[in-house]
Amino acid sequence: MALAHNNASTGKAFLDSGQYSHESILKYEQVYGRTFVSPGGRGCAIELIEKLDLKPGSRVLDVGCGIGGSAFLMKQKFNLEVDAIDLSDNMLDLAEMRLAEAGLTGQVSLANKNCLEIATKDAYDGIYSRDVFLHIKEKKQLFARLFHALKPSGKLLFTDYCCAEGPFSEDFKQYISQRNYHLCSVSEYQALIEEAGFKGVEAADVTKQFIDFSEAELKTIQTLDIDQNVREELTKDWQRKIDRARSGAQRWGRVVGRKPAETID
Ligand SMILES: C[S@@+](CC[C@H](N)C(=O)[O-])C[C@H]1O[C@@H](n2cnc3c(N)ncnc32)[C@H](O)[C@@H]1O
Repeated sequence: MALAHNNASTGKAFLDSGQYSHESILKYEQVYGRTFVSPGGRGCAIELIEKLDLKPGSRVLDVGCGIGGSAFLMKQKFNLEVDAIDLSDNMLDLAEMRLAEAGLTGQVSLANKNCLEIATKDAYDGIYSRDVFLHIKEKKQLFARLFHALKPSGKLLFTDYCCAEGPFSEDFKQYISQRNYHLCSVSEYQALIEEAGFKGVEAADVTKQFIDFSEAELKTIQTLDIDQNVREELTKDWQRKIDRARSGAQRWGRVVGRKPAETID
């Protein structure tokens, strides 16, 4: 891994009491748009679900679904059968609430599960994940599990926070350490996915799109009806994020790959 914090993968308690406290999630949701906590919100999710290119009725797994935005879209707009998992209780509580508000109760399966413990085999036509694997140290184990869970010819698509090859500034190292992130470069993702057995792998550096989304989100922050201190804190966070991406240290990766039609166990 090009830049990893030392601890094992971030546990539920760390997520729920820190970055994904109930209050923080609601703040992020205001910036990214209802039911989303990842760059580009709804528009980006639609673009990426289209890229998954699944027929109506296909079965898809949303890994690290957060408060449900992509999973709900997959059901409502694309008529897919969705299993959505996340490790954070706070995320899932809010996802259940948003699911009910969208009139989708019972139509999307939401479950508390660590993606490193997915044990399903040959079950999914597609696996989709948005900005989750930065939390996962054991990436080889992760991609072995996802490969196993896909049906032959099934497609994996994810975006993730990535890093350059280094060296890194002290500021950047501190950011990674505070968040307990485990970042790799876009080309490391390409190699990891190929090693796991995926074919037709395309790992693209889409940092320019990340900067465009983040700049639009920064403008949104200025329009929100929120406490001035919260606005200042969010503005600082987003400006730092844009600066890290502009400096080249932080990258954004979009990765797709397909499980071959025939695999030998
Ligand atoms: C940046 S949020 C993105 C949420 C959602 N994918 C979206 O696009 O709105 C990252 C999510 O990954 C989840 N997560 C982190 N580690 C996980 C793990 N080991 N297994 C499942 N989910 C995990 C977090 O709880 C959080 O909901």
